[in-house]
Amino acid sequence: MNESASQLEWVAKASGIAREAGARLREFLAQGVETEYKGDVDLVTVADRTVEKLIRGRLGEVFPDHGIYGEEGTRERLEQEFRWYVDPLDGTTNFAHGIPHFCVSMGLEQRKPAGDAGQDGEIVAGVIYNPMLDELFSAERGKGARLNGRPIHVSPVADLAESLVATGFPSRKRHDSPNIHFYHEFTLRSHGVRRAGSAALDLAYVACGRYEAFWEFNLNPWDTAAGTLLVEEAGGRMSDFAGGQFRLDSREVLASNGRIHEELLSMFRDMFAGRSLTPIPTPREFAERREAAAKANARK
Ligand code: IPD
Ligand code: CA
Ligand code: CA
Repeated sequence: MNESASQLEWVAKASGIAREAGARLREFLAQGVETEYKGDVDLVTVADRTVEKLIRGRLGEVFPDHGIYGEEGTRERLEQEFRWYVDPLDGTTNFAHGIPHFCVSMGLEQRKPAGDAGQDGEIVAGVIYNPMLDELFSAERGKGARLNGRPIHVSPVADLAESLVATGFPSRKRHDSPNIHFYHEFTLRSHGVRRAGSAALDLAYVACGRYEAFWEFNLNPWDTAAGTLLVEEAGGRMSDFAGGQFRLDSREVLASNGRIHEELLSMFRDMFAGRSLTPIPTPREFAERREAAAKANARK
């Protein structure tokens, strides 16, 4: 099989699997599922596990030589040159609360044949499917990104002040995350920050120009593998918070349309150095001002 034929196969077959998986998620959502806890507020449902099993089975049938690394524990053939990173349900918290914003995410990594199982390769194909909107985002390295078959591109906006951006917060070690400071600062400097609850869809939305940027601390490879390729193939830029090369295991994701990337990096630089933090009143200060205003009004 020549290279372009195999690439066509990757996306076409993964798209079929993602659609089937998404249809199962829709059924589970309609019937309602019980929620369990993996950690503090790290939720999991029977839908996450069942759909990962379905994807594992289907990938094994169509790509018997490919490895699989899934959020719900699948670790198969990790010594292989090709490896799928699978998030069967990205947006579990939304799903568990009946909010129709979640997706299936599958990214294919090609690693050097002689490399060890832990090394990073190159993402060569990716599919993200939102079953509630029937939106299928797909990308192949060097061949652009698509939404339901049509080419997509990042937004042309050149200033953060005119941008809509997105982020997410971890469900583990919540007390260690500084992200609320970044959330605050980006809120003041942009059209707003969305925290919609699915990192894979956030990346897909940067790729198709709905958001100008997305950042998050501590994501996992199954959250980012497909989305990172979508962003790059749609003309955007991926990096860590210092502008270094984005890696699946880097735990820092900064995605943008490229045009506002330097502005974002300079904000991260300043904020990590303790500069550029706009003060906000504490709740107590706010309450005191409110009380003073009420007293002043009563005297009128
Ligand atoms: C989560 C979502 C969320 C992000 C969390 C992820 P899950 O994935 O992508 O947007 O903020 O960090 O863990 O648990 O729903 O697959
Ligand atoms: Ca996820
Ligand atoms: Ca998940």
